[in-house]
Amino acid sequence: MSNANFQALPGFRDFYPDEFAVRAHIVRTWREVARRYGFQEYDGPPLEPLELYTEKSGPEIVQQLYNFTDRGGRDVAMRPEMTPTLARMAAARAGGLRKPIKWFSIPQLFRYERQQRGRLREHFQLNLDIVGEEDPAADAELLAAAIDMLRAFGLTEQDFVARVSDRGLLRALLLHAGVPEDRLILVYNIVDKLEREGREGVGARLRKEAEMGDDAVERTLDVFRHTDFDAVRAAYGDTEGVAPEIERMAQTFGQLRAMGLTDYVRFDLSIVRGLAYYTGIVFELFDVRGELRAICGGGRYDNLLAQVGGVQLPALGFGMGDVVLTELLRDRGLLPETRHTLDWYVIPVTPEQRPQVLALVHRLRDGGASVDYALKHQGVGKQFKNASALGARRTVIIGPEDVAEGVGVVKDMESGQESRVPLAEIGRP
Ligand code: HAM
Repeated sequence: MSNANFQALPGFRDFYPDEFAVRAHIVRTWREVARRYGFQEYDGPPLEPLELYTEKSGPEIVQQLYNFTDRGGRDVAMRPEMTPTLARMAAARAGGLRKPIKWFSIPQLFRYERQQRGRLREHFQLNLDIVGEEDPAADAELLAAAIDMLRAFGLTEQDFVARVSDRGLLRALLLHAGVPEDRLILVYNIVDKLEREGREGVGARLRKEAEMGDDAVERTLDVFRHTDFDAVRAAYGDTEGVAPEIERMAQTFGQLRAMGLTDYVRFDLSIVRGLAYYTGIVFELFDVRGELRAICGGGRYDNLLAQVGGVQLPALGFGMGDVVLTELLRDRGLLPETRHTLDWYVIPVTPEQRPQVLALVHRLRDGGASVDYALKHQGVGKQFKNASALGARRTVIIGPEDVAEGVGVVKDMESGQESRVPLAEIGRP
């Protein structure tokens, strides 16, 4: 037999209890905020037809798929994102569902990513989506929910910012700059890397991959010089197709102002997003120090339900991963105390008191308390050590004379105070 030293695959995590406690805290907080916003939870299959992604998600995600042919000869993929599944599910029942549909999910997702800080090959991702509403009020509501998700962990505008743009606006500006319509998706993907690859890197790729001439490349890069909303309005307000897009964004920003969230939001045309299906507002949430990858990303995808389910319904949503969020919370000292605790630890002095110990443990557990005891008999000193190591708040010691009298010695582990209490009354209010 081989003596292989197995480890988790690169980019996959083992969640030991301390790490699991952090994950549980994150998931609990996400659910709580989703509830406050009136969203309902759903889930779908972790394995989907390959085609659901190859057609809809765009080149970046497709290169990262975990896909294979199953024993029935079907081409399948582990889900790299939730949005195509959501679109498929919502479209299938669209007729019978009250709009807007407000759903959330917390799937584990799989992407064969290059190893880098904040990016693994599996992660948990909160997905919050609204289907069936085209009003910019939905854009504002979704952004507010993303922001409040982070505020619920104790993060503030000192910690993170939502950078917001709009594909409709960008599309109009890029067409005006000379990007051919059939290369828009490709160009979105290239300029999405502007921050990481710089003007020169992106310019070179526009020439090579999108086969654009020098003039069009220059004009395309110029679009991203403007860093605030009013500057874009002044520069391009009269450009064909741009004014209605600007008006729409102004409405979204106005509503976020009314919610008191202006400090969390910044207009930023360089936010493009790598996914192919976005058609309107797009946004990403980042730590303000710019040290980490995006915490959250999303936007409007008004044609995806038609593409995957033949139902023309507008939709928008975001995904927020647990990996970068955990790093940010750790950096800011906002992770919860993960120490294990117990309400009671029950200690027999000799093995003969075991029946009384088991009866008491069982009754306390029935009453909802967390209770533990040594599975194998040990000396009293050893059992006390276990009790402290497990974070027990109180212990009960039961010795031979106690059994005869029907009592136990209850000890408060913090104060050290002891009292003899009838066994039947232990744990009663
Ligand atoms: P995304 O930008 O690909 O969007 O992912 C959203 C978030 O998931 C990222 O900001 C990041 O926090 C996290 N994430 C993504 N990939 C990884 C990874 N390899 N390791 C760790 N965390 C990761 C989407 O997936 C869209 N489907 C979101 C969406 C929902 N749009 C509309 N509705």
